Amino acid sequence: MYGIGLFAGAVAPEKRASKRGTQLANYMRCLAVVMLFGVPCLVPAAGDDGRPVTFAKDIAPIFQEKCQNCHRAGQMAPMSLVTYEEVRPWAKAIKQRVVLRQMPPWHMDPTIGIQKFQNDISLNDAQIAVISKWVDEGAPMGNKDDMPAPRKWPNDEGWQLASQFGKPDFVLKSEPYTMPAKGSDQWFKPLTPIPVTEPRWVRAVEMRPGTPAGRRITHHALAFLQQEEPGTNTGPVTQGLLMEWAVNKNYDIYRPNTGKLLLPGSRIWWEMHYHAVGEEIRDDVELAVYLYPKGQEPKYRTVLALFPGTPLTGFGTSVLGVLDIPPNSVTETDGYTTLREPARLENFQPHMHLRGKAMLLEAILPDSSRRTLSYVDHFDVNWMTNYIYADDAAPVLPKGTMIHVVAWHDNTAAQKSNPDPTQWVGWGDRTVDEMAHAWVNVTYITEDDYKEWLAKNPQAGAAIAAR
Ligand code: HEC
Repeated sequence: MYGIGLFAGAVAPEKRASKRGTQLANYMRCLAVVMLFGVPCLVPAAGDDGRPVTFAKDIAPIFQEKCQNCHRAGQMAPMSLVTYEEVRPWAKAIKQRVVLRQMPPWHMDPTIGIQKFQNDISLNDAQIAVISKWVDEGAPMGNKDDMPAPRKWPNDEGWQLASQFGKPDFVLKSEPYTMPAKGSDQWFKPLTPIPVTEPRWVRAVEMRPGTPAGRRITHHALAFLQQEEPGTNTGPVTQGLLMEWAVNKNYDIYRPNTGKLLLPGSRIWWEMHYHAVGEEIRDDVELAVYLYPKGQEPKYRTVLALFPGTPLTGFGTSVLGVLDIPPNSVTETDGYTTLREPARLENFQPHMHLRGKAMLLEAILPDSSRRTLSYVDHFDVNWMTNYIYADDAAPVLPKGTMIHVVAWHDNTAAQKSNPDPTQWVGWGDRTVDEMAHAWVNVTYITEDDYKEWLAKNPQAGAAIAAR
């Protein structure tokens, strides 16, 4: 499976016409799959036999599976999509968001690169076609006896990982914050020490706003790990994210025999993005940490790497990205990082700000052949989605591979989140400045592990060994 997406060869994404799936485009894509591979791809069953598409029979099951996680009472989305009465007024907006692939918030190009993820919440082409057809036909209810039983949701009290790992070893809480009823978005960045007195390995983390009310104001929450590596003299440095909470992203379980290392003196540097919801709410964010038992050391250490999507320049002791985005223009920049050991990449999380448009993650192998790993074609700054590769799809790459990140920024009026297309924009921390990098959890492996992996994955192996 892994081979097909990854090794199918790169198509320069910027050269491809915008393919934001119209129904026709989806249908053509489906046809192409049938013709190329001779396998039928899913085409909408409803309506094909002349039967009208109805909410009760066709749409409610899709919404239960793909929307209600966020679109139900007490969750963060602005409206509930549970009953027909709740859904009907939104029919037009639903079609639009779904066809443009803005909802569910999964902004990965489905036609290029790896397509198997642990946390995929996207709709498939057939589901998009059915929703679209249902709206075009007047969004009928249909027969209420066809309605599926309402979906049951786990009680928010407990930690979701408790059933698997028992009680967390410890729970860290951020300093609470009071978000006023009205006003602009706020970013809050407190520090919390991590109570370990000796090096300990983390096997899973789970994060959540402290209360259900807190969910409504918490746009996202990041927990960066800060610690000093032995042998360095830098003081605690930010090692990237330990965990991110965003609707739908609640926990990380590291792969077998793999973990993150916590050192004494480490701390969490939180970054909460809060928004006002018409009512004053005070809340904190909680992070549950599940450790490997004392003395049990996983073989592999996952480290969070920042792969730049811009050239870099030095400034004193800091490293800055180079970005020059003139008014009313779209720019393309890129950055390269060489893997010094063979490695598995666990995820891809593009990071840009308000003008972020798209980001490509590509591997340039030692024989200089290129492989597209992932392409987020319609980045949305409101959704810092972390795309976690499925166990059997995470790319394993040889030593010497160059990770190439290409970033596009759109400083025109066409970019909906752009506050002012007449401004020049450069690299910087503020949301109105720009950045471009990919956060990737990298697990370094040995040459022997790599050879073993190649032997087990002949399809991928052939492509790499061909060099
Ligand atoms: C991960 C959480 C999440 C999932 C899953 C999700 N949504 Fe949303 N949805 C949101 C949030 C939050 C907003 C408001 C912010 C935004 O527009 O991005 C939203 C906005 C919308 C809007 C626009 C509402 C408006 O004010 O115009 C529509 C329509 C919508 N969602 C439909 C859907 C449908 C249909 C599905 C399932 C097929 C879905 N969403 C899945 C969280 C989600």
